[in-house]
Amino acid sequence: MEIFRTINGLRGCVQAWRQTGAKVGFVPTMGFLHDGHLSLVRRAQSHADRCVVSIFVNPTQFGQAADLDAYPRNEARDLDMLEAQGVDAVFIPEVNEIYAPGDETIVETTRLANILHGQVRPGHYRGVASVVTRLFNIVQPDVAVFGEKDYQQLQVIRRMVRDLHMPIEIIGGPTVREADGLAMSSRNVRLTDADRAAAVVLSRALDAAEAVATTGGTVESIRAVIQDTIDAEPRATLTGLDTVHHSDLTEMSGSLGAPLAVMISAQFSDILLIDQRVIQP
Ligand code: PAF
Repeated sequence: MEIFRTINGLRGCVQAWRQTGAKVGFVPTMGFLHDGHLSLVRRAQSHADRCVVSIFVNPTQFGQAADLDAYPRNEARDLDMLEAQGVDAVFIPEVNEIYAPGDETIVETTRLANILHGQVRPGHYRGVASVVTRLFNIVQPDVAVFGEKDYQQLQVIRRMVRDLHMPIEIIGGPTVREADGLAMSSRNVRLTDADRAAAVVLSRALDAAEAVATTGGTVESIRAVIQDTIDAEPRATLTGLDTVHHSDLTEMSGSLGAPLAVMISAQFSDILLIDQRVIQP
C-alpha cells in the first residue's frame, strides 16, 4: 500500500495505473476508521481494479472550531486497517495541500445543501461538496463510494456529479451497525457509557417506523411513532426528523406513494448522532 501526502505524488500513481487500463475506485474519509468505512472500501474494490482512500478532516464542513478540534484521529491505526483490507493507495494531505493559500472557490448544491440537516448545520454540505470536488479532481476516480448513513450527503454528491458533468459513478454503501443496532460512527467513541446505551433508541425508532409502514401507516403516523420512541428516552433530544422523497428529498405526506427516506438526528449530551432508513411503500 502506497501512502501519499502530496497531490503530485498521488496523481503520478493513479496515472501509472490508468496506463495499464485499470479502473480506479475511491473512498473519501475523515479517518478514525471503523467497519462501516471498510465496508465502503470493499464495495469500491468490487467495482474497480485499484482502490484509493483519502483521510482528510475537512475544516470547511465544520461549523465550530471546537468540533473540528475534537474530531478523533488515529492515523497509524487507520493505515493498518486499510493495509489489511488490501487498499492500493492512501492520500493523507495537509489542509494547505487541499486549500492552497488564497483558495476561494466553493461548490454548493443550492437547494439540497440548505434543507433538512443543512438547516441544522449551515454551510456543512457546501463544505462537503467543496472538498469532494477537490478530491475528485485530484484522484479522478471512475467510481466513488459514500455511506448511505448520511443520506443527504449522498444525494448532494449525486446531484453535484450530475450537474457538473463529472464522469464518476457514485455508489451508496448500506449503513453498518453495532450488534445492538447503533449505526457505526467515529463519534460513537465520544459518547459516555450512559449515552452510548441510550443511543440505540435511534435504530429502535426506525424499526418502529418501518413496522408502522408495513401496516399501511401514513407519513404522519411514521413521524409520530419516531417522535414518541425518542421522547421516551430521557438522554436523547430529537434535533431533526425528516420524512422525504428518497431521491429529491422533498417533503412527503399521507400514504406512501414512493420510497420514503427517514432521517433522524438526535443529541446525546454534546454529541449529535444521525441515522436514516429508506422505507418502501
Ligand atoms: O462523510 C465523510 O466522512 C465526509 O463528509 C467526506 C465525504 C469524507 C468529506 O469530507
